[in-house]
Amino acid sequence: MTRRRRIYEGKAKVLFEGPEPGTLVQYFKDDTSAFNNSKQGVITGKGVLNNRISEYLMSRLSEIGVPTHFVRRLNMREQLIREVEIIPIELVVRNVAAGDFAKRFGLAEGTALPRSIVEYYYKSDELGDPLVTEEHITAFGWAAPQDLDDMVALALRVNDYLSGLFLGIGLKLVDFTLEFGRLWENEDMRIVIADEISPDNCRLWDIKTNEKLDKDRFREDLGKVEEAYQEVARRLGILPEG
Ligand code: C5P
Repeated sequence: MTRRRRIYEGKAKVLFEGPEPGTLVQYFKDDTSAFNNSKQGVITGKGVLNNRISEYLMSRLSEIGVPTHFVRRLNMREQLIREVEIIPIELVVRNVAAGDFAKRFGLAEGTALPRSIVEYYYKSDELGDPLVTEEHITAFGWAAPQDLDDMVALALRVNDYLSGLFLGIGLKLVDFTLEFGRLWENEDMRIVIADEISPDNCRLWDIKTNEKLDKDRFREDLGKVEEAYQEVARRLGILPEG
């Protein structure tokens, strides 16, 4: 592998300088963490699976006109992406009560929500990604009102599309997180989906059994974590060989 300058290292991924200006290489690690880094572990093979799953989902989204930072997969663990200015807000779209949300509102996990609910979290490890409102986001200048409108519109399209895609392979899209970036082309700016879309940031339950096939298996010590990610890839028809 050629040596490349490391731009950023996160919990599950590393970003390297890309081959051309305006590009980066996103490397998927097997490392994982939960509860704001207080729980850490390694899921063997996760990086390979998430690279493949995220490639697949981002490609399908671009086919329906949802812009993303994804360019192409380079190898088992790396993909080429467009360099974007990351907006420090995570959008969570929820269809069914689970995790933090179920606790916050005293709902049983699995309770269907009256409609999809969008939440905003401020990306800050020190603060533990607090839940914030549109007021905080615009007052602190994390995103302009127009940026936020674009992010919500994209997140709802992604939810509609991915809910259907997963339903077709017997999975319920319970909730997911999206990250966004500003992509500059000369003087023009557009908001695109960044980061990854994988069982690390989506909750996916088997339609019939409600079996969890996502990172909750790690968070809740349910075992068979890698097998769950493999099962998602298998149902998508993209299980890498070997
Ligand atoms: O824990 P919570 O219910 O807030 O998680 C909502 C969704 O966001 C889940 O799909 C979870 O995997 C994802 N998430 C994430 N990164 C975090 C926290 C949650 O991708 N730091």
